[in-house]
Amino acid sequence: MAHKTDDFSTGILHAGGMKDQYGALITPIYNTSTFVFDSTDQGAARFALEEPGYIYTRIGNPTCTELETVLAMLEGGEAAIATASGMGAITATIWTLISAGEEIVADKTLYGCTFEFFQHHLSRFGVKINFIDMSNEDELKAALNERTRIVYLETPANPNLKITDIARTAEIAHSFNPEIKVICDNTFATPYLQKPLSLGADVVVHSATKYLNGHGDLIAGAVISDQETINQILLVGIKDMTGAVLAPNEAYLFMRGLKTLSLRMERHCNSAMKIARYLEKHEKIEKVFYPGLESHEGHDIASRQMRLYGGMISFIVRGGRDNAARVADSVKVATLAVSLGAPETLVEHAASMTHSTYNDEELIAAGIPGGLIRLSIGLEDPDDLISDLEQALAQAE
Ligand SMILES: Cc1ncc(COP(=O)(O)O)c(C=O)c1O
Repeated sequence: MAHKTDDFSTGILHAGGMKDQYGALITPIYNTSTFVFDSTDQGAARFALEEPGYIYTRIGNPTCTELETVLAMLEGGEAAIATASGMGAITATIWTLISAGEEIVADKTLYGCTFEFFQHHLSRFGVKINFIDMSNEDELKAALNERTRIVYLETPANPNLKITDIARTAEIAHSFNPEIKVICDNTFATPYLQKPLSLGADVVVHSATKYLNGHGDLIAGAVISDQETINQILLVGIKDMTGAVLAPNEAYLFMRGLKTLSLRMERHCNSAMKIARYLEKHEKIEKVFYPGLESHEGHDIASRQMRLYGGMISFIVRGGRDNAARVADSVKVATLAVSLGAPETLVEHAASMTHSTYNDEELIAAGIPGGLIRLSIGLEDPDDLISDLEQALAQAE
């Protein structure tokens, strides 16, 4: 029997509560592609969704079900699907909810491959994307029309930590048309810091490659929503359109990492706050983007909708791209690599790496200048990271 609790740290360990025949504490890995039927009638009944039970791992697997139960509980949704990657979660969701001739309103500042999917690929299938500044209510109201099916945002956004008011965005979208699905990518915040569904969003997507797994050893994603929407995404976006299902081995790793989410997030956030304050005073830095700083444009909204301010920081090095590259190339404790949410601190240059899918004009419109460096603050001693950044920043001219 699953332990019922609202407490995050207890719930994360007890929400699933699956018991196998041996009483294993840890969820077994069901490494099977298919499941045996007792009869043709039983197989037919399962395919017709008239009888519960597993059919084939692309459509469901007990190890993944256990993980999905925990994910739904953490985000406060009715159901979840674990996916093969964050992009698998995003594309399976969008392919399910949109058709040719319909429109998406999306924030201009998105993870580079999400932007690329919207800007250059979805548009090939007759879907129109209206990129706006989602934090500007007037732009949102002006962009909505009778063909709008999806409003899509990240908050904090990748890579510049832009904050959008989730409750206000959902209120505007739903008062225009209650059928519009507001989709929030909650990768940067995680449900430990922010629960978009409780603020009015309809669907949450994640790159679980990042904080949810938290160990840098796995590519995975997740979608969380109401039961009906999750059923649709499973049976259309996952089963037929992308096949982006998570394998049972990966579900095991994901669950193993997820158990320590609250501990890790506290440490990531506290260290990031300290490092952001240090960076803000540095003479070689033009601007620091961290929602916990009073100087951040979205600080008040972040204070309302987030528990803490996250482990991601971006900053603009004076002198543009070349100086930013000098700093990124000079770190010794931190590591020059894309991705985020790992135990190790990672540094990247967004314009030439994760956001190289944006052209120069799009980068400027999205607030991603050439001097911007993105930091994923890891679990090292924050003072070691400050010393490392100090010596790296000394290399900037
Ligand atoms: C905010 C955000 N969403 C989605 C993705 C895509 O996730 P994945 O790399 O797991 O496919 C990323 C990857 O960096 C991301 O940062």
